[in-house]
Amino acid sequence: AVTRTYSFNVRLKNVTRLCKTKPLITVNGKSPGPKIVAREGDNVVVKVHNHVKDNVSIHWHGVRQLRTGWADGPAYITQCPIQTGMTYVYNFTVTGQRGTLWWHAHISWIRASVYGAFIIYPKLHVPYPFPKPHKEATIILGEWWNTDTEKVISQALQNGGGPNVSDCYSLNGHPGPLYNCSANDTYTLKVIPGKTYLLRIINSALNDEMFFSIANHSVTVVEVDAVYTKPFKTDIFLITPGQTTNVLLTAHPNTSLHHHKNFAIAARPYATGQGTFDNTTIAGILTYSKKKHFNFTHFKNSTLPKLPAFNDTSFATNYTLKLKSLANAQYPAAVPKTVDRKFFFTVGLGQNPCPKGFKCGAPNNTKFTASINNISFVMPTVALLQSHYSGKMKGVYKTNFPDNPPFVFNYTGTPPNNTSPMNGTRAKVLKFNSTVQLILQDTSIAGIESHPLHLHGFNFFIVGQGFGNYNKTKDSPKFNLVDPIERNTVGVPNGGWVAIRFRADNPGVWFMHCHLEVHTSWGLKMAWIVKNGKGPLQSLPPPPADLPPC
Ligand code: C2O
Repeated sequence: AVTRTYSFNVRLKNVTRLCKTKPLITVNGKSPGPKIVAREGDNVVVKVHNHVKDNVSIHWHGVRQLRTGWADGPAYITQCPIQTGMTYVYNFTVTGQRGTLWWHAHISWIRASVYGAFIIYPKLHVPYPFPKPHKEATIILGEWWNTDTEKVISQALQNGGGPNVSDCYSLNGHPGPLYNCSANDTYTLKVIPGKTYLLRIINSALNDEMFFSIANHSVTVVEVDAVYTKPFKTDIFLITPGQTTNVLLTAHPNTSLHHHKNFAIAARPYATGQGTFDNTTIAGILTYSKKKHFNFTHFKNSTLPKLPAFNDTSFATNYTLKLKSLANAQYPAAVPKTVDRKFFFTVGLGQNPCPKGFKCGAPNNTKFTASINNISFVMPTVALLQSHYSGKMKGVYKTNFPDNPPFVFNYTGTPPNNTSPMNGTRAKVLKFNSTVQLILQDTSIAGIESHPLHLHGFNFFIVGQGFGNYNKTKDSPKFNLVDPIERNTVGVPNGGWVAIRFRADNPGVWFMHCHLEVHTSWGLKMAWIVKNGKGPLQSLPPPPADLPPC
């Protein structure tokens, strides 16, 4: 194992996309920012300097941070933000993981431009459990607003509604030929006939689950969220914000069979209904051509691969059900067979009355709000981990997060009138090494999307999923405890539920939230506190000396 050192300078850079130039918050002048590359077992040290007027913090999404919670990054959860002119060094070891993860800013909507890939190779001389690819490529889905994203979110918080629809998607920052003035700014993947490529796809979009496909090519899914899967072939896959998917792509052996040597790469959103959501397509090019430059005047929508309809839930469900852990001797699925704690959390949007004298943005002049078990999480003004570590929780947070919804109703039917959530900063406390089963039940009170729930500090196993209301007697006997997929972000289906299990073997404070940024902002988030066990190997060490003050 070695130490990999990076320097991240967060600074403004004028960036032009869709014919518009705006100052963008970048890392080292780039968006997406630098790719972090490490091997399993390596120590990663990232020195982050903040040169912008906004506060920042960086999260290493999916990195387990075993006993290094101080380096996890969500602002006001594990650290106070890095203020203008300040520096913080994130120092952690990549333990027991290999695959594709990513990093992003974890404060307000700054992750719109501050994000990048985090690639973990297996330990030296340990091969992939699939054929060695000729080459690899990383493709990050992003989202772009012509206006300042901080304005977009402050408006969405003020009026409790839209508009929060982005102006385009991007592949590694490139909007591509389907958007205004962007033909010369197209992501291009060059391949050689007959060779196999490992594509590492990351969904860094703020608010959209995406279908992804490459025209005339099928791919083999081999890994999600840095966990190997049982390989399976597919033409299209689905990826929620926060998730990563690794696929093998084999270039056709003889391209003279085809008229053109170029094939479109495309992605577009998935949601269960129609709404004021972006329904445009992002395109890039897979090419067998050796030419350096392309003429995109020939690029037409007809060249695009067939993607499912915007609301094709049966495709989405069939796809997610295919994902299974490798679960073999070398890569076992450590799914907890018994559980110490059982929780049932409702997740979803709701509508609150509009304050008098205001014009609100949600239907019937209401304000959207979002909650878990009817608690809309309020960010504290000091970091939870610091107050937990020092034992000074008074006035910062409470530990009475409810195990179950405060009242029972038909979650996927017509909602009652009294579902207005309460505000609060509440956490759920777990004993070290306890095993947890958590049912996440969507409430279809408002909204048309699945909720990509992301848990910091752990991977979890998705032991069950379904539509309608979760029914313990009917559903729990069908749980998959053999080879369930293991990941860090799961789409809780609109009008349905998922059951996850994890082992609380990582002491600290761990954020759990919807990875649709607008839902997080409206309060769809909470925190777990995992207590120390016995001795230093089961305890959180003291904070680093440079931990930012609030
Ligand atoms: Cu990728 Cu808490 O986030």
